[in-house]
Amino acid sequence: MSKTAELIIDGKSYMLPIIEGTEGEKAIDIGNLLETAGVTTLDFGYKNTGATKSAITFLDGDKGILRYRGYSIEDLAAKSTFLEVSYLLIYGELPTQEQLTKFSNDIKTHTLVHEDIKKILDGFPSSAHPMGVLASLFCSQTAFYPESLDPNRSSEGVYLSIIRSLAKMPTFAAWSYKNVIGHPVNYPDNSLEYSSRFLKMLFAHPAAEYDVDPVIADALDKLLILHADHEQNCSTSTVRIVGSSKASIYSSISAGINALWGPLHGGANQEVIVMLENIKKDGGDTDKWINKAKDKNSGFRLMGFGHRVYKNFDPRAKIIKKAADDVMTKLGINDPVLEIAQKLEEVALRDPYFIERKLYPNVDFYSGIIYRALGIPVDMFTVMFAMGRLPGWIAQWKELRENKEPIGRPRQLYIGQTLRPYVELKKR
Ligand code: MLT
Repeated sequence: MSKTAELIIDGKSYMLPIIEGTEGEKAIDIGNLLETAGVTTLDFGYKNTGATKSAITFLDGDKGILRYRGYSIEDLAAKSTFLEVSYLLIYGELPTQEQLTKFSNDIKTHTLVHEDIKKILDGFPSSAHPMGVLASLFCSQTAFYPESLDPNRSSEGVYLSIIRSLAKMPTFAAWSYKNVIGHPVNYPDNSLEYSSRFLKMLFAHPAAEYDVDPVIADALDKLLILHADHEQNCSTSTVRIVGSSKASIYSSISAGINALWGPLHGGANQEVIVMLENIKKDGGDTDKWINKAKDKNSGFRLMGFGHRVYKNFDPRAKIIKKAADDVMTKLGINDPVLEIAQKLEEVALRDPYFIERKLYPNVDFYSGIIYRALGIPVDMFTVMFAMGRLPGWIAQWKELRENKEPIGRPRQLYIGQTLRPYVELKKR
């Protein structure tokens, strides 16, 4: 294949380099287009535009492939742990036992948060959505650790910020929920591993003993692995563009949490359960709602179906669906909402309307169902997504820093008023 692309504008030819990635993906490098040809490109939502070169995550939307640092999501979900996957994403290699033990112990050293965090938490009404609380608490680390604001911080300092981020996210997440239900917060129990430690902080309360169910902890760990990174999605691109201004890791990730909150992104898993609950309340007639989804005047949209990148199936949805079945069997849960979800999926996978539009279950479709089975409150579903995505955000922010990438500054096509003279108020 030619290594250059020819662009002809007003009869003048411009040769643009074509670069190829390790998986055979090809990109036209337009880094000098404005300077050489005097034109920019326009691509709403950047769906056709690569913002960076990255060695972290590879996905193939046509084949339904997702790999973290070359390892398949299927392998990692079946055989790894969230902490090991976090290390892999951030440092590029699976850790040795010694490296993993140090990583885990360093994280345990920092799971406590400053007591003044409670003052910030107390400022939020119980009506505050946990995602808003989480974004604020996470960004508040810039105040408790002002040295993190140094854009030229040493690698040791960056390591400490990374460890603090991973260590304190579960504490912030659990505390943001305790604020909603008006319960006292729990301190992290470092005798437990990552997911179990979080579950105990989330669910324990002074009125009863709480023992972590290993089935629930294992399922949560798998869910966190499945959400850990997803190349240049909306929230990761947000982390990168904020980080490109040399903002701290805490403020960059806080921006990513806010981007993930949107119902078109991480908020979709919460919307799926709301949709399934509404269908259940309406009598569970899935055919009725499938027809509504097909009727563009109905205003009803099937949440959790289709994906901007995957064209045939989302590999994570397949894994989560099986995990949901396993967990509900092990826990003896019979959730009518799961039956409704399975009926919707069956129809969507055989109905030409959905097949033609590539509308099949994505990662959000089943994640809400399994979170519900694990007893995670609906308001916390997107917080779980943020907890899972954290190592991916960290890895992408770190890669941007290490590659010394420039500040992000997209251009535009101006379509406003051309030059016109100011008119005094009395003459308008
Ligand atoms: C994600 O995992 O971030 C979502 O699937 C959205 C995306 O990749 O665009």
